[in-house]
Amino acid sequence: MIITIDGPIATGKSSIAKQLAQEIGFIYVDTGAMYRCLAYSILKHGISPSDAPSVINHLDTFKFDIKIRQGKRSYFVSDTNVTDIIRGEEVTSNVSEISAIKEVREKLVNLQRDFSNGINAVFEGRDMGTVVFPGADVKIFLKGDPIVRAKRRYNEFKQKYPEDFHDLTLEQTIDEINKRDHHDSNRKISPLKQAEDAIVIDTTDLTIEDIIAKILEYKDSIPYSA
Ligand code: DC
Repeated sequence: MIITIDGPIATGKSSIAKQLAQEIGFIYVDTGAMYRCLAYSILKHGISPSDAPSVINHLDTFKFDIKIRQGKRSYFVSDTNVTDIIRGEEVTSNVSEISAIKEVREKLVNLQRDFSNGINAVFEGRDMGTVVFPGADVKIFLKGDPIVRAKRRYNEFKQKYPEDFHDLTLEQTIDEINKRDHHDSNRKISPLKQAEDAIVIDTTDLTIEDIIAKILEYKDSIPYSA
Protein backbone atom coordinates (compact mmCIF):
# COMPACT_ATOMS: atom_id res chain seq x y z
CA MET A 1 0.00 0.00 0.00
CA ILE A 2 1.20 3.51 -0.83
CA ILE A 3 0.13 6.52 1.23
CA THR A 4 1.04 9.93 -0.19
CA ILE A 5 1.32 13.10 1.86
CA ASP A 6 1.73 16.39 -0.01
CA GLY A 7 1.52 20.02 0.99
CA PRO A 8 3.41 23.29 1.31
CA ILE A 9 6.28 24.02 3.70
CA ALA A 10 5.88 23.59 7.47
CA THR A 11 2.45 22.01 7.50
CA GLY A 12 3.99 19.28 9.64
CA LYS A 13 4.33 16.89 6.67
CA SER A 14 7.60 15.27 7.76
CA SER A 15 6.68 14.74 11.41
CA ILE A 16 3.28 13.38 10.44
CA ALA A 17 4.56 11.09 7.67
CA LYS A 18 7.40 9.77 9.84
CA GLN A 19 5.21 9.07 12.87
CA LEU A 20 2.40 7.60 10.79
CA ALA A 21 4.83 5.23 9.02
CA GLN A 22 6.29 4.15 12.33
CA GLU A 23 2.87 3.48 13.86
CA ILE A 24 1.71 1.26 11.01
CA GLY A 25 5.06 -0.37 10.17
CA PHE A 26 5.42 1.31 6.76
CA ILE A 27 8.64 2.66 5.22
CA TYR A 28 8.88 6.45 5.33
CA VAL A 29 10.22 8.22 2.22
CA ASP A 30 11.06 11.92 2.42
CA THR A 31 11.31 12.93 -1.25
CA GLY A 32 12.22 16.53 -0.35
CA ALA A 33 15.46 15.14 1.13
CA MET A 34 16.27 13.65 -2.29
CA TYR A 35 15.90 17.07 -3.96
CA ARG A 36 17.96 18.59 -1.13
CA CYS A 37 20.77 16.02 -1.61
CA LEU A 38 20.90 16.87 -5.29
CA ALA A 39 20.95 20.62 -4.53
CA TYR A 40 23.82 20.04 -2.09
CA SER A 41 25.77 18.09 -4.70
CA ILE A 42 25.22 20.76 -7.35
CA LEU A 43 26.39 23.57 -5.08
CA LYS A 44 29.34 21.49 -3.87
CA HIS A 45 30.48 21.08 -7.49
CA GLY A 46 30.33 24.84 -8.01
CA ILE A 47 27.42 24.59 -10.45
CA SER A 48 24.97 27.47 -10.49
CA PRO A 49 21.34 26.31 -9.94
CA SER A 50 20.31 28.59 -12.81
CA ASP A 51 22.72 26.81 -15.21
CA ALA A 52 20.22 24.11 -16.21
CA PRO A 53 22.47 22.32 -18.79
CA SER A 54 25.22 21.83 -16.16
CA VAL A 55 22.66 20.74 -13.54
CA ILE A 56 21.29 18.17 -16.03
CA ASN A 57 24.83 16.99 -16.85
CA HIS A 58 25.49 16.44 -13.18
CA LEU A 59 22.54 14.03 -12.87
CA ASP A 60 24.57 11.21 -14.45
CA THR A 61 27.18 11.24 -11.71
CA PHE A 62 24.91 12.15 -8.79
CA LYS A 63 24.88 9.36 -6.21
CA PHE A 64 22.93 9.41 -3.01
CA ASP A 65 22.14 6.89 -0.34
CA ILE A 66 20.01 6.58 2.78
CA LYS A 67 21.33 4.63 5.76
CA ILE A 68 19.27 3.78 8.79
CA ARG A 69 21.22 2.93 11.94
CA GLN A 70 19.53 2.40 15.31
CA GLY A 71 16.42 4.03 13.94
CA LYS A 72 18.31 7.17 12.89
CA ARG A 73 18.21 8.05 9.22
CA SER A 74 21.27 9.55 7.51
CA TYR A 75 21.60 10.85 3.97
CA PHE A 76 24.83 10.47 1.99
CA VAL A 77 25.97 12.13 -1.21
CA SER A 78 28.83 10.01 -2.55
CA ASP A 79 30.57 9.26 0.79
CA THR A 80 29.67 12.44 2.63
CA ASN A 81 27.07 12.41 5.37
CA VAL A 82 24.88 15.41 4.44
CA THR A 83 22.01 14.83 6.90
CA ASP A 84 22.47 18.19 8.66
CA ILE A 85 23.84 20.33 5.89
CA ILE A 86 20.91 19.67 3.53
CA ARG A 87 18.62 21.43 6.07
CA GLY A 88 20.84 24.54 6.18
CA GLU A 89 20.24 27.91 4.59
CA GLU A 90 22.34 27.45 1.43
CA VAL A 91 20.61 24.27 0.26
CA THR A 92 17.18 25.50 1.39
CA SER A 93 17.38 28.70 -0.63
CA ASN A 94 18.50 26.91 -3.82
CA VAL A 95 16.55 23.64 -3.84
CA SER A 96 13.32 25.05 -5.27
CA GLU A 97 15.00 26.35 -8.44
CA ILE A 98 16.80 23.04 -9.03
CA SER A 99 13.67 20.97 -8.43
CA ALA A 100 11.80 22.87 -11.15
CA ILE A 101 14.04 21.45 -13.92
CA LYS A 102 12.24 18.81 -16.00
CA GLU A 103 15.17 16.37 -16.25
CA VAL A 104 15.76 16.61 -12.50
CA ARG A 105 12.18 15.64 -11.83
CA GLU A 106 12.27 12.78 -14.33
CA LYS A 107 15.33 11.30 -12.65
CA LEU A 108 14.03 11.59 -9.08
CA VAL A 109 10.49 10.50 -9.95
CA ASN A 110 11.89 7.34 -11.54
CA LEU A 111 13.97 6.63 -8.44
CA GLN A 112 10.89 7.14 -6.25
CA ARG A 113 8.75 4.82 -8.35
CA ASP A 114 11.47 2.13 -8.47
CA PHE A 115 11.80 2.32 -4.73
CA SER A 116 8.06 1.89 -4.18
CA ASN A 117 7.95 -1.54 -5.83
CA GLY A 118 6.51 -4.16 -3.52
CA ILE A 119 6.67 -2.11 -0.33
CA ASN A 120 4.21 -0.51 2.05
CA ALA A 121 5.29 3.09 2.31
CA VAL A 122 4.38 6.65 3.20
CA PHE A 123 5.78 8.99 0.52
CA GLU A 124 6.01 12.64 1.50
CA GLY A 125 6.56 15.52 -0.95
CA ARG A 126 4.82 17.94 -3.31
CA ASP A 127 3.70 15.83 -6.28
CA MET A 128 3.28 12.39 -4.73
CA GLY A 129 -0.50 12.14 -5.17
CA THR A 130 -0.67 13.98 -8.49
CA VAL A 131 2.32 12.79 -10.55
CA VAL A 132 4.44 10.14 -8.89
CA PHE A 133 1.70 7.88 -7.53
CA PRO A 134 -1.62 8.92 -9.12
CA GLY A 135 -3.03 5.51 -8.20
CA ALA A 136 -2.00 5.65 -4.52
CA ASP A 137 -4.42 4.00 -2.11
CA VAL A 138 -4.51 6.93 0.33
CA LYS A 139 -3.74 10.52 -0.66
CA ILE A 140 -3.46 13.27 1.90
CA PHE A 141 -2.99 16.98 1.21
CA LEU A 142 -2.01 19.11 4.19
CA LYS A 143 -2.55 22.85 4.32
CA GLY A 144 -2.25 25.47 7.05
CA ASP A 145 -2.29 29.16 7.90
CA PRO A 146 0.90 30.73 6.39
CA ILE A 147 1.78 32.73 9.53
CA VAL A 148 1.37 29.69 11.80
CA ARG A 149 3.51 27.67 9.38
CA ALA A 150 6.22 30.36 9.29
CA LYS A 151 6.31 30.53 13.11
CA ARG A 152 6.62 26.75 13.24
CA ARG A 153 9.52 26.79 10.76
CA TYR A 154 11.21 29.74 12.55
CA ASN A 155 11.10 28.05 15.97
CA GLU A 156 12.24 24.74 14.54
CA PHE A 157 15.22 26.35 12.79
CA LYS A 158 16.16 28.36 15.90
CA GLN A 159 16.13 25.22 18.02
CA LYS A 160 17.94 22.91 15.60
CA TYR A 161 20.55 25.24 14.11
CA PRO A 162 21.36 27.92 16.70
CA GLU A 163 24.80 28.48 15.09
CA ASP A 164 23.21 29.27 11.70
CA PHE A 165 20.53 31.37 13.27
CA HIS A 166 22.36 34.71 13.78
CA ASP A 167 19.85 37.47 13.08
CA LEU A 168 17.19 35.62 11.07
CA THR A 169 13.82 37.22 11.76
CA LEU A 170 10.29 35.86 11.66
CA GLU A 171 9.57 38.29 8.81
CA GLN A 172 12.44 36.84 6.77
CA THR A 173 11.12 33.33 7.43
CA ILE A 174 7.63 34.35 6.26
CA ASP A 175 9.17 35.86 3.16
CA GLU A 176 11.27 32.75 2.44
CA ILE A 177 8.33 30.39 2.92
CA ASN A 178 6.11 32.48 0.66
CA LYS A 179 8.79 32.61 -2.04
CA ARG A 180 9.47 28.86 -1.95
CA ASP A 181 5.76 27.95 -1.87
CA HIS A 182 5.10 30.33 -4.76
CA HIS A 183 7.96 28.80 -6.75
CA ASP A 184 6.86 25.21 -5.96
CA SER A 185 3.21 25.95 -6.80
CA ASN A 186 3.84 27.83 -10.04
CA ARG A 187 6.53 25.79 -11.74
CA LYS A 188 5.51 24.29 -15.08
CA ILE A 189 6.30 20.67 -14.25
CA SER A 190 4.68 18.83 -11.34
CA PRO A 191 3.68 21.92 -9.35
CA LEU A 192 2.61 21.59 -5.74
CA LYS A 193 -1.09 20.90 -6.14
CA GLN A 194 -3.80 19.00 -4.37
CA ALA A 195 -4.81 15.77 -6.16
CA GLU A 196 -8.53 15.81 -6.91
CA ASP A 197 -9.06 12.64 -4.90
CA ALA A 198 -6.89 13.71 -1.95
CA ILE A 199 -8.24 14.14 1.56
CA VAL A 200 -7.45 17.73 2.63
CA ILE A 201 -6.51 18.36 6.24
CA ASP A 202 -5.96 21.87 7.65
CA THR A 203 -3.20 21.42 10.24
CA THR A 204 -3.38 24.95 11.72
CA ASP A 205 -5.16 24.01 14.94
CA LEU A 206 -4.57 20.28 15.07
CA THR A 207 -1.93 18.25 16.88
CA ILE A 208 0.14 15.62 15.07
CA GLU A 209 -1.82 12.93 16.93
CA ASP A 210 -5.15 14.43 15.75
CA ILE A 211 -3.95 14.43 12.16
CA ILE A 212 -2.61 10.88 12.27
CA ALA A 213 -5.90 9.70 13.78
CA LYS A 214 -7.79 11.31 10.88
CA ILE A 215 -5.50 9.66 8.32
CA LEU A 216 -5.83 6.25 9.97
CA GLU A 217 -9.58 6.58 10.17
CA TYR A 218 -9.66 7.24 6.43
CA LYS A 219 -7.13 4.48 5.64
CA ASP A 220 -9.14 1.92 7.61
CA SER A 221 -12.36 2.95 5.86
CA ILE A 222 -11.21 2.17 2.32
CA PRO A 223 -11.44 -1.25 0.72
CA TYR A 224 -7.94 -2.51 0.03
CA SER A 225 -7.06 -5.84 -1.52
CA ALA A 226 -3.26 -5.99 -2.07
O1 DC B 1 9.92 19.14 1.77
P1 DC B 1 11.21 19.95 1.67
O2 DC B 1 11.09 21.38 2.14
O3 DC B 1 12.37 19.26 2.28
O4 DC B 1 11.49 20.02 0.09
C1 DC B 1 12.59 20.70 -0.43
C2 DC B 1 12.27 21.23 -1.82
O5 DC B 1 12.17 20.15 -2.73
C3 DC B 1 10.99 22.04 -1.93
O6 DC B 1 11.29 23.42 -2.12
C4 DC B 1 10.28 21.52 -3.15
C5 DC B 1 11.09 20.36 -3.62
N1 DC B 1 10.31 19.13 -3.69
C6 DC B 1 9.67 18.86 -4.87
O7 DC B 1 9.74 19.67 -5.79
N2 DC B 1 8.99 17.70 -5.03
C7 DC B 1 8.92 16.82 -4.02
N3 DC B 1 8.26 15.68 -4.21
C8 DC B 1 9.53 17.09 -2.77
C9 DC B 1 10.21 18.28 -2.63
